[in-house]
Amino acid sequence: MLELGVLISGRGSNLMAILDAIDAGTLDARVRLVISNKKKAAGLAKAAERGIPTLAISHREHPTREAFDAALVAALREVGVDWVVLAGFMRIVTPVFLQAFPNRVVNIHPSLLPAFPGVDAQAQAVAYGVKVTGCTVHLVNEGVDTGPIIAQSTVPVEEGDDRDALADRLIVEEHRLLVEALGLVAAGRLEVVEHGARARVAIRPLP
Ligand code: GRF
Repeated sequence: MLELGVLISGRGSNLMAILDAIDAGTLDARVRLVISNKKKAAGLAKAAERGIPTLAISHREHPTREAFDAALVAALREVGVDWVVLAGFMRIVTPVFLQAFPNRVVNIHPSLLPAFPGVDAQAQAVAYGVKVTGCTVHLVNEGVDTGPIIAQSTVPVEEGDDRDALADRLIVEEHRLLVEALGLVAAGRLEVVEHGARARVAIRPLP
């Protein structure tokens, strides 16, 4: 059973997708704690409605990024979390966090990395004029959206799409891909392979 901690900053729709999959019996996991750096994140209330323990830990309450991360780590460890999902979490985690959960922090990003890393990847895709974009689930490393890729999925950009139209199409695929990727984690099928300078994720075949 995957013991998950989920970090959010906003509406938490990816968190809801995880909870829905768990409730449907399609994801062998349990969400032990949801933490948001934003006290008013709608995802906190939605998680609480479903009986999931929640915490708001503001990064403003800590003098440094490292101190903030140490507070996150303490809260997650206290409830036995062994994998962490960044689901719409808008903070960059530091090595303090990554050392506590080595190769066990998963992020969902709304582009086909390495294209369009960082903030508002959906707007970047529309501005660039790509015809196909997508979403990526990856292990988090010390960079921004640069960690080893677990899974990707493509989403078309339609004529006349503005940022919101594309984001609405992308988010549906993000939910599916995130649950699929976490299923691989739950099945113990991920293997991190060092390939020279860049680590990669190999997916072990089904037995
Ligand atoms: C999603 O597009 C996610 O990929 C990005 O933040 C957006 C909001 O996610 N990181 P959520 O609805 O809060 O899960």
